This record gives sequence, C-alpha cells and structure tokens, in this order.
Amino acid sequence: MFQLLLEKVIIRITGASQGIGRAIAIECSQHGALLVIHHIGDSKSQQDVETLLAEISVIKNARESAPSAVHIGLDVTLPDAGKRLVDLAVSTFGRVDGIVHNAGIAQFIDFNAVTKQQLDKHLSINFGGPFAITQAVTSQMIAQGSGGSVVSIASVTATTGSSQLVHYAATKAAVLGMTVNGAVALGKHGIRFNAVSPGTITTSINEADLAGPKRAAMEGRVPLGRLGVPVDIAKPVVFFLSDMAQYVSGQNLIVDGAATVFYQ
Ligand SMILES: NC(=O)c1ccc[n+]([C@@H]2O[C@H](COP(=O)([O-])OP(=O)(O)OC[C@H]3O[C@@H](n4cnc5c(N)ncnc54)[C@H](O)[C@@H]3O)[C@@H](O)[C@H]2O)c1
Repeated sequence: MFQLLLEKVIIRITGASQGIGRAIAIECSQHGALLVIHHIGDSKSQQDVETLLAEISVIKNARESAPSAVHIGLDVTLPDAGKRLVDLAVSTFGRVDGIVHNAGIAQFIDFNAVTKQQLDKHLSINFGGPFAITQAVTSQMIAQGSGGSVVSIASVTATTGSSQLVHYAATKAAVLGMTVNGAVALGKHGIRFNAVSPGTITTSINEADLAGPKRAAMEGRVPLGRLGVPVDIAKPVVFFLSDMAQYVSGQNLIVDGAATVFYQ
C-alpha cells in the first residue's frame, strides 16, 4: 500500500518551476503535502509554474486527501524574501512545517578566471539567500512550537573536487556548515536540518557542460550505470521532510549512484 509521508504538511520549495525543485514539488504533492511553490518570477518560470500547478491539480483530483499549492515569484536574494515566503505560507495554510532550499546557480568557470562579481552572485543566491530565508522560516517554526524540517540541496562538489566549480563548491560547503550547525542551534526547538548532495543530475544547470563527450565519460563513472534525474533527488528530500526522519538531523546524504565512492 502507498503510504502518504507528508499528509497535510506545509512545505515551501525554492526554485521549484523546473529541474530538481519541480520534481520535489511533485513528489511532495504525491505524498499529500500542501505547498508554497517559489520560482524566480520571470516569464519562463511563470509559464513553467502554471504547468506544474496543473500537474499538481491532477494529483489532487486523483486522491481523496487533497493537496493544494500556491506560488510566488521572487529573487531569493531580496532582503524581504524570507518574510514574504513565510507570510504567504501562513496566510494560505496557517503555518509552515518544512522548507526546501533548492534554488541555485552553477556557472562552470576556471578558478583563476572567477571574478568577484561572479563569486558574490554565487554566494548570495546559493548561501546568503537561503541563510536569511532559514532565519525567517525557523522563527515562524519556533513561534508555532512544533518543530520543523529544513532541507538544503547542496552538492557532491562541496566534499569532492571539480576543476571549474571551486567558487560554486565553496557556497555548497557553506550550506553544509549551516546544516550541521543549524541542527545543533535549533535542535532544542525540534527543528531538524539536513542536506541532500546530488551528483550529476541532468537539468538545465549542466546542459551545456554535458553537451559534448563529457556526458559519456561522466556516465561511465557511475556504478549504477546512468546519470541522475530530478526525481532521484526528490525522493530522499521527502524522507528528510517526513517523520520517517524524525531523529535524523545534521546529516548530508550524497545521492550520486555511488559515483563518489567508486575507486576501481
Ligand atoms: N543538476 C545537478 O547536477 C546538480 C548537482 C548538485 C547540486 N545541484 C543543485 O540543485 C539545485 C537545483 O538545480 P537544478 O539542477 O534543478 O537546476 P535548474 O537550473 O533547473 O534549477 C535552478 C532553479 O533555481 C532558480 N534560481 C536561480 N537563481 C535564483 C534566484 N536568484 N532567485 C530565485 N530562484 C533562482 C532557477 O530559476 C531554477 O528554477 C541547485 O541548488 C543546484 O546547485 C544540482
């Protein structure tokens, strides 16, 4: 029997119009969650989110326990992004139980060519924005008094090496730092912090990088025999959000088909 892991749990997902975030939204919805779907707010993400809401409404109609979703378009680096996301969750659903930090950027650049502007942009989108949003969300969770779950999408690059992603990897290492230390700081409020670190997952973020012969080379390094797809990440995210992980906090789960442990 299919067990709903997130029935009536209220979750916000950033960068959810496409790629991994979209798969997380669909998987959460299939598990009964009520969703605040965040997207960047440009015309493409607006169109994408409309089709996502249509997909979610099909899931809703197929089940008695009806999930529902609202959406908001904004840049995660805006100073009031956290407050606006919390306000929407509370005004729509009355509370917020979980947040998934998924929005992010990764430009492939040689280490010595990275400009201060490029570094600052990666830091503010991948770490500064999520940090401030986490403060807003966990303040609300503390006021609610029944705990919560913070799940961040980090990356295997935070703990392994990539020649053109040094600047990006450092932002994801910062995310892991927030995960471990946040778990300690807010454990007394029943708030859990965990991270999922994807290997190579085929999305628009790496489309250009994988366009040439690199794709076959990367596939050849994955013991499970294929590159990842967004739903491979969405399923472990649901686990961390759910009560199945009620005593799991401060952890980083690498989801890469065993690529990073492959020695020979
Ligand atoms: N695809 C991979 O191989 C891979 C590997 C490791 C980690 N990740 C991480 O997974 C997450 C999702 O990436 P993806 O692969 O689905 O790529 P993607 O480009 O499809 O999705 C990224 C999302 O972030 C949003 N975003 C970017 N900047 C934003 C901003 N300033 N404000 C609001 N939203 C913004 C984009 O609009 C998009 O929806 C990212 O954090 C990425 O670093 C991806």
